[in-house]
Amino acid sequence: MKIDILTVVPELLESPFAHSIMKRANEKGLLTVRVYNLRDWAINKHGQVDDYQYGGGAGMVMMCEPLANAIEALKKEASYDEIIYMTPDGDNFNQSTANQLSLKENILIICGHYKGIDQRIRDHYVTKEISIGDYVLSGGELAAAVVVDAIGRLLPGVLNDETSALFDSFQDNLLAPPVYTRPADFNGWKVPEILLQGDPKKVDDWRHEEALKRTKEKRPGLLEDPGQIH
Ligand code: ADE
Repeated sequence: MKIDILTVVPELLESPFAHSIMKRANEKGLLTVRVYNLRDWAINKHGQVDDYQYGGGAGMVMMCEPLANAIEALKKEASYDEIIYMTPDGDNFNQSTANQLSLKENILIICGHYKGIDQRIRDHYVTKEISIGDYVLSGGELAAAVVVDAIGRLLPGVLNDETSALFDSFQDNLLAPPVYTRPADFNGWKVPEILLQGDPKKVDDWRHEEALKRTKEKRPGLLEDPGQIH
């Protein structure tokens, strides 16, 4: 899978994909993330990519011309299945969207800044608008990193234990059950006995019960309306 990201602050996206699981995904050739600087398509030698908004008001708007030129140039290299715009007024990102996007071949993500991008780019190029939550970030870069991470770890072969993403929170409308590792007794705080007995069926049943209990306590809405994550 290939994900291209268009941003005015490429530095913000240097680290997130250079470590750990995303690094491994890249090294294995399973996920290639390329970050492009929108200023390479600036309208003048001052690197201008934004301008005042029509109708007045504070805050700059990212202009059509650099964005359209950048998108057209990138489209010559890749046929995008989705052109995503990261924006707080987009659709809420969730596991279901991550699952769907992980099946695509080529994605372009546009990171907004300032007041956002000119509406005409949204109307004519963008195929999907994503928000990572009901709060406003100073730009779309960190949101894009979240989305790429959530997608990347789902690609077959990226995680060591291929099945492990299947047991994540949300994959079955339930939060994940508690987990423990050695020692079995830390300062008198004991690991539940059932996990030490070596009976896989009992462990499965216990985990399911705990997942249900945790979901009822913390996110009862998931049980009442699974649609919210699927
Ligand atoms: N850009 C600014 N805030 C954002 C958010 N919450 N989600 C996605 N992109 C954003």
